[in-house]
Amino acid sequence: MKIGVFDSGYGGLTILREMRRRLPEYDYLYLGDNARAPYGTHSFDVIYSYTLQAVEFLFSRGCTLVVLACNTASAKALRTIQQKDLPRINALRPEGQKVNVLGVIRPTVEVVPEMTQTGHIGVLATPATVSSESYVLELEKISSPARVLTISQQACPLWVPIVEAGEYENAGADYFVDKYLHAIYAEDPQIDTLVLGCTHYPLLLPKIEKWASEHAKNVRIVAQGTLVADSLADYLLRHGEYRSQLSQNGTCVYLTTENADRFSQSASLFIGSPVRAEHICL
Ligand code: DGL
Repeated sequence: MKIGVFDSGYGGLTILREMRRRLPEYDYLYLGDNARAPYGTHSFDVIYSYTLQAVEFLFSRGCTLVVLACNTASAKALRTIQQKDLPRINALRPEGQKVNVLGVIRPTVEVVPEMTQTGHIGVLATPATVSSESYVLELEKISSPARVLTISQQACPLWVPIVEAGEYENAGADYFVDKYLHAIYAEDPQIDTLVLGCTHYPLLLPKIEKWASEHAKNVRIVAQGTLVADSLADYLLRHGEYRSQLSQNGTCVYLTTENADRFSQSASLFIGSPVRAEHICL
């Protein structure tokens, strides 16, 4: 059995890369729903139904755990899948072969308060993640009178399309990097911790870092890859019932709902080693 990693497109590769560094022994199955990306501008119903299709597909291909390496899917679909769909799916599976789905927001939120000095946190995410208020609600749960957190959010609707189009290193992307970072700092100039609350955004990291070094002081930029990988390692330690089902041959298979050659080419660049993807239909 494998670990499934799902994203609307290429963004989840930034999580997969760190998972494979941290837990290289396991077998992974990556699915990018590139044909229907971006998810972040869709409604709850659409994001939930696309995500559920992908999760059920990954279970049908032998995954026992699926990580939603997508904040939008984690914000909009994870809770409903965990509460409504998993009980139905697991009821049909034999004992010892149960499945589970994990997200990326909780592992991120858990470490952010330790990172900020000013207590002012900025969350950059897709419109769907921002409107879900998931980051705000989760961070407020761990805010206390002794540690008051001030949270600002900024939707960055053009960043995912820029990454999906392979334009993230080009000069044209600078305009939209400046636009959204400028907006969040106009709202709160005291932000010292910027959360990249979308797994596509680390591909824009050099541009975001450059902007921050020129326009803000002592900013920590939080990318999720290592946080999610550490959290998965910890989860597997605590959950032998899933760990014992996982095969350990160190393989990774890539699936996309778009053109396999195009995916392979872009994914090889992101991952830094050759990728040969297979096309599937959901
Ligand atoms: N990588 C997804 C996320 O973390 C992007 C969602 C989208 O397709 O808009 O939110």
